[in-house]
Formats: sequence, C-alpha cells, structure tokens
Amino acid sequence: MLFVVTRSAAVLAAALLIAQPAALRAQPAKKPAPAKAPAAAAPAASAAVGVAGAAAPAAPASPATSAQARFAACLACHGEGGRSVTPLTPSLAGQHSFYAITQLFLFREGRRNNPVMTAVAKGMSDADMRAFADLIARLPGPPAASMEGLDARRMANGATLASQHRCGGCHGADYTGGNQVARIANQREDYLLATLREYQAGTRLGYTTAMNETLSGLTPEGLADIAYFLANAPSAKP
Ligand code: HEC
Ligand code: HEC
Repeated sequence: MLFVVTRSAAVLAAALLIAQPAALRAQPAKKPAPAKAPAAAAPAASAAVGVAGAAAPAAPASPATSAQARFAACLACHGEGGRSVTPLTPSLAGQHSFYAITQLFLFREGRRNNPVMTAVAKGMSDADMRAFADLIARLPGPPAASMEGLDARRMANGATLASQHRCGGCHGADYTGGNQVARIANQREDYLLATLREYQAGTRLGYTTAMNETLSGLTPEGLADIAYFLANAPSAKP
C-alpha cells in the first residue's frame, strides 16, 4: 500500500544504511512504560541535548543506555509519552522508526532546517539516531480525537481534499503512515499546518519532493482544513 518514493534515493539509502542494524535486531517489547518528561523548561532541555554526551556518566554507557537517559530531554519538548503540548512541536508518539531516523538524518545533515532540531541533531552519532528512532517507535500512538465540538463543515472539506489529493495512498488509509512515510493522524494541528505550508513554499524539502508536488493547487483554506481534519482524524488506531 505504501509505496517507496524513488526520488532523492541517495538520502533514503543513507538513512536506510544507518537504520539497518536496528531493523535487524530482535524487535523490542511492544509497549514499555513511557519515559517521564522532566519539568525542565524547553530551552534548557535543548541545551542539554545539544551538547551530546555532556551529562554522560563516568562509566562508558552504550549508545542505547545514554540515548534512553537523554530521551527525557527530548520529551520535555515533544511531550510526555511523545504527545506534544508544545506549540509547533510535533508529537512523536506513533511515529515510525524509519521515518524518525530519516528526519534526524536530514536535520543532522542540514537538509531539513529548524534551529532547535538542527542543534539537537548536530552532535548525534549514527548509533544515537538509531537508538532515538527505536525509542520513538516504541511510544504508543496518540488516541483518536473526540468528535465533540468539531466543525463538521471543515472536517468534511478536509476529508474530501485529502481524498482528492490521495494523501492516504502514501500515508495509509487511516493516515498512520509506515516505514519512511510519516504518521499524520492525530498530529498537532498547528504543526501540520506549518509543515504543509513549508512543503508548499518549498522551504521543507524532505528526502523526496513528493510532498511539494502533492500540495500544489491547494489554497491556504484547503491546507488549513486538511490540517484540521488530520489532527482530529476519527478512525486512526492508537
Ligand atoms: C527545544 C525543543 C526540542 C527538543 C529538546 C527536541 N526537539 Fe525534536 N523537534 C522540535 C521541534 C520544534 C520540531 C519541529 C521542527 C520543524 O518544524 O521542522 C522537532 C522535530 C523533531 C522530529 C521530526 C518529527 C516529524 O514529525 O517530522 C524528530 C524525529 C525529533 N524532533 C526528535 C527529537 C529527539 C530524538 C530529541 C532529543 C534528542 C528532540 N527531538 C529534542 C523541538 C525539540
Ligand atoms: C507520493 C506519496 C505521498 C503523498 C501522495 C502524500 N505524502 Fe505526505 N509525505 C510523504 C513522505 C515520503 C513524507 C516524508 C517526507 C520528508 O522527508 O519530509 C511525507 C510527509 C508529510 C508530512 C510531514 C509529517 C511530519 O511529521 O512532519 C505531512 C504533514 C504530510 N506528509 C501530509 C500529507 C498530506 C496532507 C497529503 C495529501 C494532501 C500527503 N501528505 C500526500 C509522502 C506522501
């Protein structure tokens, strides 16, 4: 169902090379207890994560152990259990390992630009990225939104546009994605809208131009209704 995009295959191949050892390892337990987000303020967390290994214990920790310890700082921005309550910051819950590692790779290589995440990813080793992607993939996805108080007209318009533009052809019929394609169901609405605008403006390129092409012809109102619909996606599995 999800098809592999062949453009910019080099980036994907590089990310796949990094991801592969993780993919070959035994599957981790499905639902570990979600890591607790610390009370630390976001900028402090950013600094803590940006200086890779600064807080590492004296004994040499394996990348997985040290990533686990540093993951709490990620969740200070990305929310407890990866469910973000921070404006313009995506939930990581329910995101796929391969998608996550591809994006971390793009941030690290400066191909996806965001001041915070570029700084966070800069010091990451391949092993760090694998470990973080694995931790992200183990966060259970966000629950389907409650249908109460929703604007039925915007939901219907968003659903129609998503279907016309075949979003589900790549992101899955329930928009939960897979492999290198993002889960977009029940993502934060403000982040969805901002990132769709970036794709449309060509300021976010990703590893493929699929998203830039697929949004051409959509009006600002159309983008907003699609973001509204996806954020409140009724049928997504957790
Ligand atoms: C200071 C806040 C902050 C911290 C700390 C932070 N992030 Fe982020 N992260 C963001 C923001 C904001 C974005 C969205 C960037 C954009 O709009 O391009 C993001 C995006 C991401 C994405 C892409 C998600 C997607 O849906 O495309 C991943 C993966 C990610 N972060 C992982 C991490 C990991 C792993 C850590 C810890 C090592 C971390 N982040 C720490 C703020 C933060
Ligand atoms: C041809 C396949 C394809 C189609 C069709 C498609 N997408 Fe995507 N989409 C992708 C891929 C691949 C990515 C990740 C690309 C990257 O690296 O930035 C992505 C990323 C995204 C993201 C970013 C997610 C995040 O967490 O940052 C959003 C939002 C999104 N798509 C929404 C949509 C919407 C809405 C539609 C329909 C209007 C759509 N997509 C149609 C393949 C597709």
